[in-house]
Amino acid sequence: MNAQKSRIAQAFSNSADSYEQASQLQAEVAKEVATLALADLPSNPRVLEIGCGTGGLTKHLLTQVEGGSFLITDIAPNMVEKCREACVDKRARYLRMDGEHPALEGQEFDLIVSSLAMQWFADLAAGIERLTAHLVPGGRLVFSTLAHETFANWRTAHTELGLKDGTPIYPTPQQVDGMWPEGGQGQVSVDLIKREYEDAQTFARRLKTIGANTPAQGHRPLSPKNFRKISAHLGRNFVDHYHIVYGAFTKG
Ligand SMILES: C[S@@+](CC[C@H](N)C(=O)[O-])C[C@H]1O[C@@H](n2cnc3c(N)ncnc32)[C@H](O)[C@@H]1O
Repeated sequence: MNAQKSRIAQAFSNSADSYEQASQLQAEVAKEVATLALADLPSNPRVLEIGCGTGGLTKHLLTQVEGGSFLITDIAPNMVEKCREACVDKRARYLRMDGEHPALEGQEFDLIVSSLAMQWFADLAAGIERLTAHLVPGGRLVFSTLAHETFANWRTAHTELGLKDGTPIYPTPQQVDGMWPEGGQGQVSVDLIKREYEDAQTFARRLKTIGANTPAQGHRPLSPKNFRKISAHLGRNFVDHYHIVYGAFTKG
């Protein structure tokens, strides 16, 4: 695992106990992913989850699917443990794994599912290709990830002040729709979810509470002086967005 991946894993591990205090949006999105993923499943499905966190999506999978087997994974060890404790189920196995580089030789799944984890992949298209290689014919990859309008107002504030922000660059929905590997068919749908933040500190604190505070590779954190500038520029009760792409791929 490279240094950036270790930082991401560490930040999420550190937030395993606080994650659910600030993850209402993630819970809403996970519910939608479950609805998309659980339509059309064969009986006794083999399911792989990538980036389980504390189990927001896992709970839907385990309560709504009868039978089957579940491999539940996350890159952050404390998240794997939290999820294992929250979702005790004989059908589930838990594993620490980087979903972008699945170590699953010879294993095949009817469903690979993930909610708001794949935006942390360094190369989303390559990650999708490696994951879909583990689908049986007719199997599906269903996920949500972040798209380019996410935190656009936060980023614009930085640009207007001549500062660099640490938000990773997210793809457009069209770009995600261009990432499907050969040998199947994919589609995307999109949602733009508005969020209001009391101030810049609240915004930064919320990201830290859920562990989503690892900046893009090579980014140097703002000095306290520049953070105050951003804070003053955005003012109180500023609005920003989570731009969600839902992707679904069926292997031919
Ligand atoms: C925002 S949380 C979402 C958790 C859960 N899916 C939910 O909906 O509440 C993102 C999760 O993805 C995990 N993650 C980040 N990068 C990952 C990777 N490369 N492989 C697997 N999990 C990853 C993090 O450790 C974290 O638990």
